[in-house]
Amino acid sequence: MSLNGKNALVTGGSRGIGRAVCLRLAEMGAHVFINYVSNPAAAEETMKLITDSGGSADIAAFDVADADMAQSAIKTLIKEAGSIDILVNNAGITRDGLMARMKEDDWDMVLDTNLKGAFLCSKAAARSMMKKRWGRIVNISSVIGFAGNAGQVNYAAAKAGMQGLTKSMAREFATRNITVNAVAPGYIVTDMTRDLPGDIQEKITAGIPLASLGQPEDVAGAVAYLVSDDGAYVTGNTIHVNGGMYM
Ligand SMILES: NC(=O)c1ccc[n+]([C@@H]2O[C@H](COP(=O)([O-])OP(=O)(O)OC[C@H]3O[C@@H](n4cnc5c(N)ncnc54)[C@H](OP(=O)(O)O)[C@@H]3O)[C@@H](O)[C@H]2O)c1
Repeated sequence: MSLNGKNALVTGGSRGIGRAVCLRLAEMGAHVFINYVSNPAAAEETMKLITDSGGSADIAAFDVADADMAQSAIKTLIKEAGSIDILVNNAGITRDGLMARMKEDDWDMVLDTNLKGAFLCSKAAARSMMKKRWGRIVNISSVIGFAGNAGQVNYAAAKAGMQGLTKSMAREFATRNITVNAVAPGYIVTDMTRDLPGDIQEKITAGIPLASLGQPEDVAGAVAYLVSDDGAYVTGNTIHVNGGMYM
């Protein structure tokens, strides 16, 4: 499972699931670019965790939803590093609320970050992968994109859209030996879910056959498989990492 000599970009790699993915890919030998948008301290902590354990990483700050910024940042990374071989589209936000009261801004921000961001970063990184005739793109979607959720029409639409993006990119890039897959987490313990009230967490846990929330490392393991040689014949597919809450 060696990723020696490969460069990996993990969007939203500074915290939560993204951090676990960065650590795992670095452990497998990749040079990791840790992307974030607003919290440099978290990105630096992730970088330190990687370098302290002998891995290699750099920080790449940009907003995935900003077309000019994202595309020029990725172009620069490719120029300086030689290539981006692995892209994990993980950056994501929520702006929850019932549809009747949801502001257009909340819809736009969630779609722009979670879905358009994945399109922009993939488009920019795929150029380098096509040149090398090798690449791995993994999109972090969500169980909510499959099951839907009251109060999350924006997030569910973005994550369901990501599934269509995944399959279409997989078809477009297959001849260039670039695989494109999704990992759909259930409820994972991160900043995104930490603040859920106790009674809601209990309710969620009661609906999970494995009877607990997941850890970021559970998701990182699925990403590790998809980018490794073991996952080379898998494309256009989704690994559900959700304790059985959606089958
Ligand atoms: N946690 C769950 O239960 C769960 C379940 C299913 C799917 N997911 C998905 O998994 C992914 C990671 O979730 P998480 O729980 O780890 O989230 P998190 O702890 O809130 O971390 C989000 C990460 O995304 C970055 N980010 C946000 N907006 C960005 C932007 N515009 N440009 C670049 N980076 C941006 C953040 O950087 P800053 O700190 O700089 O803002 C941070 O690194 C998301 O796509 C989420 O939808 C999570």
